[in-house]
Amino acid sequence: MFTTELIQQFKELETPFYFYDTDLLDSTLAEVKKYAQRYDFTVHYAVKANTNSEIMSRIAKEGLGADCVSGNEVTQALAVGFQADDIVFAGVGKSDKEILTALEADIFCFNSESVQELEVIQELAQRVEKVARIALRLNPNVKANTHKYITTGLEENKFGISLSQLPEVLQVLEKCKNLELVGIHFHIGSQILDLENFRNLCQRLNEIQDTFEEKNLPLKHINVGGGLGIDYRSPNSNPMSNFEAYFQLFAENIQRRPNQKIHFELGRSIVGQCGSLITKVLYLKEGLKKKFVITDAGMNDLIRPSLYQAYHKIENITSTAETAETYDVVGPVCESTDCFDKNVSLKQTQRGDLLAIRSAGAYGEVMISNYNLRDRAKSYCKDWLLNQ
Ligand code: LLP
Repeated sequence: MFTTELIQQFKELETPFYFYDTDLLDSTLAEVKKYAQRYDFTVHYAVKANTNSEIMSRIAKEGLGADCVSGNEVTQALAVGFQADDIVFAGVGKSDKEILTALEADIFCFNSESVQELEVIQELAQRVEKVARIALRLNPNVKANTHKYITTGLEENKFGISLSQLPEVLQVLEKCKNLELVGIHFHIGSQILDLENFRNLCQRLNEIQDTFEEKNLPLKHINVGGGLGIDYRSPNSNPMSNFEAYFQLFAENIQRRPNQKIHFELGRSIVGQCGSLITKVLYLKEGLKKKFVITDAGMNDLIRPSLYQAYHKIENITSTAETAETYDVVGPVCESTDCFDKNVSLKQTQRGDLLAIRSAGAYGEVMISNYNLRDRAKSYCKDWLLNQ
């Protein structure tokens, strides 16, 4: 991934920074489109994974829709070229201002999460004389077998409407003249590697669809959310998720009705592998039991390891040493959890070396904070670096 020419460029730049391999992003998008089109599936990019405008506009150019979770994400999606009628808007806590932003833009659909939210959307839609299309986000109570912080489809999670509340929801919808029920929405969690979890979702979804039809409510749209995982351990040998198997599973397991549209909201699997956080080694420190590599990137630049105990592969991309050593790779922030990984085998490392923290394209740059008043890391795309 890192050619000598690129590394030469990296050495000129202030660190830490995010680097995006735009060739990999393009080939990932080509793969997503190829297999989604095979079944006439509609894919919305889950903007929350990476809101870098260069990345977003590349995705918009490929014709994907956008899945947004805030008014600002809707505004940004429109600004970079996503079409309003390809935008869905989800989230348990949409503010009035955000709902109005989406109504004014006339987005395709609100993924609605509660009775009270439906009532508020109705009131606001009536005020601005619009009709809001609604997909009910239902909680399917399906396990995702992923980290507990990124599991969403269980009854104990705050997301979605539980099925027992459906009669009440439908009653409310009937009264709301400015709401049009167009479909249902699910999302069971993120970084899901075992496709069996999605098969379980399909089974639940088929039962739920039958319930709607028994009530004489045919569903034009079914949105199955996102969650397809990536291989954090082997980004070089496995840079793309298995989109073929993923889409095929849904095609084989959803009892799709004629002319029904199936929607997906993929974030991590589209942008995760194309991003790396490039950081410089500030110091080597010999502890009593350990050797520490202290980097100029910290948990404020990439919070996933400290927040979810997430693994990211780390490589020394400038060392020419023949031998390797074992280090704890830590950041400069005043927190013990500011550690990227422990007992990492790296080529013998010294002050000034550059490390690449891999698979950081999703939920990396977007989750930056300026804790400790640290600077915000910049970002660079491969084609920009090579063509300047
Ligand atoms: N749709 C909904 C309703 C979601 O809540 C999410 C992610 C997605 C789609 C996209 O899921 P993906 O395809 O990216 O798995 N910050 C965490 C991940 C949080 C995911 C939140 N929801 C992390 O770094 O692992």
